Amino acid sequence: MRQVTIHEFGSPAVLKIEEVAEPALLPGEVLVDVHYAGLNPLDYKIRDGSSGMAAKLTLPSSLGREFVGKILTAAPDVDLAAHDLREGQWVFGMRAHPDVRGTYAERISVSVDSVAPVLDDSSLPHYAGLALVGLTALDAIEQAAIAQGDTVLIHGGSGGVGQLLIPLALQRGASQVWATGRAANAERIRELGATPIPYDGVNWQEVIADETEGRGVDSVIDTHYFRTFLPSLNHVADGGRIVALPSLADLTPAKERGIDASVPGIAPTREKLDWLARAFDAGELPLEVSEVLPMDEVASGHKQLESGHTRGKLILDVRA
Ligand SMILES: NC(=O)c1ccc[n+]([C@@H]2O[C@H](COP(=O)([O-])OP(=O)(O)OC[C@H]3O[C@@H](n4cnc5c(N)ncnc54)[C@H](OP(=O)(O)O)[C@@H]3O)[C@@H](O)[C@H]2O)c1
Repeated sequence: MRQVTIHEFGSPAVLKIEEVAEPALLPGEVLVDVHYAGLNPLDYKIRDGSSGMAAKLTLPSSLGREFVGKILTAAPDVDLAAHDLREGQWVFGMRAHPDVRGTYAERISVSVDSVAPVLDDSSLPHYAGLALVGLTALDAIEQAAIAQGDTVLIHGGSGGVGQLLIPLALQRGASQVWATGRAANAERIRELGATPIPYDGVNWQEVIADETEGRGVDSVIDTHYFRTFLPSLNHVADGGRIVALPSLADLTPAKERGIDASVPGIAPTREKLDWLARAFDAGELPLEVSEVLPMDEVASGHKQLESGHTRGKLILDVRA
């Protein structure tokens, strides 16, 4: 079968498409015939060795954390019916920590607890990109502790996680959500229900200070972090909080100022995956797939991820 393999950490040039042996099916796992895999910034951080997860990888290895595909078979100890699953069923999901085996492959074996049924097989690329950003957005919203009437600032409102954070913050009762993004993405941010702040045209700090009359917002959810985290601390209301997404974010400056700060940590569970599928199917999580790339364009996908300006989700078609 074909898979994207890396033999060393480095630039997108280390991504090779190779014929490899079929994956071994371990106890507790299902074998999935993958059709699409989601691309995430975490993938390039593993590829270049900067993520803590890279140290756990035995090279050569595939990359990728999430997927959509059909169940081919299950390990002898897995009773599919008991999991409300069957052979031939479309499922989506993501690998759970500490499983670092990739998903950019024609077939993968994965824990039966990390998959859930697809509810509409006309949206397969969306399901391929739903698990990782969906689980992250759920945890980030939980940590942001948004109460009825709260004000929220989201940095990166048109990115993969950002596009789910906006509707989730509104569902939790936020009275006003501002979201930063380039002017080119302002319309998408508005469609999702937030007030766009095009940071490439206006000073977002001045906008927030003006609109909140200097009070600041109750919660900041910062998907970008690098240029936004420190200045955001000046715009958190008394008793407010900041949630930063990158796992390596340094929260010390917030804590030194007495601001509640955290990074979401995600774990796929069947219950949460089922919830995401239902919410996506009901139109409550309007995730945008901006591009579906064939497997041999995976390096170009990684370059886009590294630019930090992906809109919605990039998806890899492992069959093309
Ligand atoms: N802790 C966890 O478990 C976890 C889970 C998932 C993701 N993450 C991390 O969270 C981050 C975001 O993930 P993602 O999948 O949403 O990434 P993404 O799809 O690449 O989105 C990045 C977003 O950042 C925005 N952006 C870039 N520069 C900006 C700036 N100066 N100010 C404001 N926004 C800016 C981009 O919008 P424009 O193009 O409009 O600038 C884009 O919307 C990544 O670092 C990822 O590794 C962490």
